[in-house]
Amino acid sequence: MKAVILAGGTGSRLKPLTYWTNKHLLPVGTYPMICHGVAKLRHAGIRDIVIVTGRSSLGGFADVLGSGRDWGVSILYRVQEEAGGIAQALELARPVIGPGEKFAVLLGDNLFEQSLVPFVEAYEKQREGAMVLLKKVGDPRRYGVPLLEEETGKILYIEEKPEIPQSPYCVTGLYFYSSDVFEIVERIRPSRRGELEITDVNNEYARASRLHYRVVDGWWTDAGTFESLEEAGKRLKGALP
Ligand code: G1P
Repeated sequence: MKAVILAGGTGSRLKPLTYWTNKHLLPVGTYPMICHGVAKLRHAGIRDIVIVTGRSSLGGFADVLGSGRDWGVSILYRVQEEAGGIAQALELARPVIGPGEKFAVLLGDNLFEQSLVPFVEAYEKQREGAMVLLKKVGDPRRYGVPLLEEETGKILYIEEKPEIPQSPYCVTGLYFYSSDVFEIVERIRPSRRGELEITDVNNEYARASRLHYRVVDGWWTDAGTFESLEEAGKRLKGALP
């Protein structure tokens, strides 16, 4: 399976650190953040990785990861010229994914402690549709929150940053799709903030009863705030899978 790591964005919640570098190049423990994602995917058997980032950050990723050789992977880089949302960044991987091919999409600030092997295996076996990973969190209001249909293991609807969350779970930034996701990205329209939202993509699957989920047991964070970045640094100090 291939993977796409989305590593663009302005990192606005981490200013002033992100005035001079991309969020995903900031240190987490003894490695730049992006390395944790690459190593985790590699550990799960993924050897082909596409990194999508902005023009000004590209050189930083090439400095850290190069071709991917030292990490046991092959890396292709794609440039997102303007911030247009997670789903628009995903679209840039389209030429690399063959018809019917399954792949993983990781938001580069999402850090997982547990192995991703069971999730990759589960999606390999899944007959159709998409799969997302959920995590029970203290304050779901910061995230996309799913309404679950537990009997079927499917999601009925995801509400993005709800005031009143309908479950204690959040949708993490690790998604599994097949190439049909690109047709959905084509269909969705920009949100009120002018971006193509990944939650709108996932809700298209949910509406068609095609959005499956698995729950992450181990520690997880999206290291997009000072608090979570600091916690991630302590947790993952020196650790790579
Ligand atoms: C994005 C997604 C959200 C998800 C989160 C996980 O939010 O839109 O559904 O829960 O990533 O990291 P963002 O961090 O871009 O606000």
